[in-house]
Amino acid sequence: MKTLVIITHPNLEQSRINRAWMEELKKHEELTIHTLYEAYPDGKINVEHEQKLLEAHDRIILQFPFYWYSTPPLLKQWQDEVLSYGWAYGEGGDKLHGKELGLAISTFGPADSYQPTGYNHFTMETLTTPLQQTSNLIGTRFMPLFVLNGVAYVTDEQLAQSTKDYVEYVLQPSLIKA
Ligand SMILES: Cc1cc2nc3c(=O)[nH]c(=O)nc-3n(C[C@H](O)[C@H](O)[C@H](O)COP(=O)(O)O)c2cc1C
Repeated sequence: MKTLVIITHPNLEQSRINRAWMEELKKHEELTIHTLYEAYPDGKINVEHEQKLLEAHDRIILQFPFYWYSTPPLLKQWQDEVLSYGWAYGEGGDKLHGKELGLAISTFGPADSYQPTGYNHFTMETLTTPLQQTSNLIGTRFMPLFVLNGVAYVTDEQLAQSTKDYVEYVLQPSLIKA
């Protein structure tokens, strides 16, 4: 199974979580790691290249920091432009059917804030339902979320554990029975 990890972080040098996750993934040569802001510093996405990359992989992981309970803007633009009618959905739009789609998300808000009783009121699962429905529409199998909440609160040990868990998540056996 071929896995593509698309990392969308506007400032990886100053990142704590996403950079740690990325550095660990880079030790696994079988993974394709694609950093969107580095690939497109001018914001002009090469749609054909992105679609070929997606077609060449079986599992796609979107890794990003939570921005206003959603993705950073370049990843939203990527969805708008790359997941096109007749390719990802609609008539003849079956190019992603049967692939797996996962989300790996970091947040500032701590885990207990992403609960009905917390200040963010909603769970991460609820807040990411638009992406889950996108997965339904494009015919991918949606993987359970991978999340690390609370960038300012997690200890170095917790981050190291999350990094190990993340690699396991990305490399886990296919959810789709042959
Ligand atoms: C524009 C912007 C919007 C953000 N929105 C949220 C948010 O909705 N919820 C949240 O918990 N953190 C939010 N954050 C904080 C980032 O998610 C957090 O800093 C990041 O996930 C930490 O990961 P990193 O160490 O890889 O940068 C936001 C940050 C920025 C710059």
